[in-house]
Amino acid sequence: MRETPHSTRDAGKTMEPSVEHWDMLWEKTRILAPHDTVLAAIEKLDTSMILEVGAGSGRDLEELRRRGYDVVYADFSPVAVGAFSRRNPGVPTVIADCRCLPFRDESIDLVLSLGLLEHFERETRRTIIQEKLRVARRYTLIDVPQTLSPMMLVKKALMALGRWSYGEETQFTFSQLLRELRSAGDHCEVVGQYGRELVPLPRNVKNVFYSRLPAAIRSIFIKSHSFFARGLAGSFGIIVAKTRE
Ligand SMILES: C[S@@+](CC[C@H](N)C(=O)[O-])C[C@H]1O[C@@H](n2cnc3c(N)ncnc32)[C@H](O)[C@@H]1O
Repeated sequence: MRETPHSTRDAGKTMEPSVEHWDMLWEKTRILAPHDTVLAAIEKLDTSMILEVGAGSGRDLEELRRRGYDVVYADFSPVAVGAFSRRNPGVPTVIADCRCLPFRDESIDLVLSLGLLEHFERETRRTIIQEKLRVARRYTLIDVPQTLSPMMLVKKALMALGRWSYGEETQFTFSQLLRELRSAGDHCEVVGQYGRELVPLPRNVKNVFYSRLPAAIRSIFIKSHSFFARGLAGSFGIIVAKTRE
């Protein structure tokens, strides 16, 4: 097996990539395109201040800021934080571990994470969800890889060979993520959901692909909340609102 800083594998267990591993990945990563589906889901919410935990490239925060939201960036990789703050002077950024967020209770409207939870064991995932719910005033969004996606076969093969850059990851079904959310905090209700990465292609190629489809078929692909999109998507997200009781 190829040795990387994260690669101590333990049969079937999700292993957390180290901070050095993330630093190394972010040193090599160029600017990434924002996730249109995620942005569309956020725009339906009543929110003005948004924190992303494990924000990495910060691609979605950058776009949200352009659209007028107040954004806050948190990640534990100094390389990722440095790159983001150089590109976005004036945006609050913090080097922080998602298990212990340096924010007051209910201090930020929406707390989101994309591509974070799958890197941790179940107990740690619970802690992270609890932290996000604690800091969120109104909403929490969690976006994770989806178990039934066809892309998962390729990913699993790469993980088995030790060739998936992010080490061992967990995948989720919609109901599994919902169970984990409910067990971390029962005072919340689902107010949004979406599937994304239905077609694993770059955005400009995907746009050409979509534009050639008949409108009726295109709407099945693009309606991110449809059963089809959610069931086959490479990743999906759930948005919950906090309820008092
Ligand atoms: C797959 S990336 C997600 C990046 C981001 N959503 C994006 O679109 O670029 C996961 C991120 O979580 C961060 N991360 C991993 N473990 C963390 C931890 N314990 N605390 C805070 N951030 C962490 C990594 O540094 C990485 O930037």
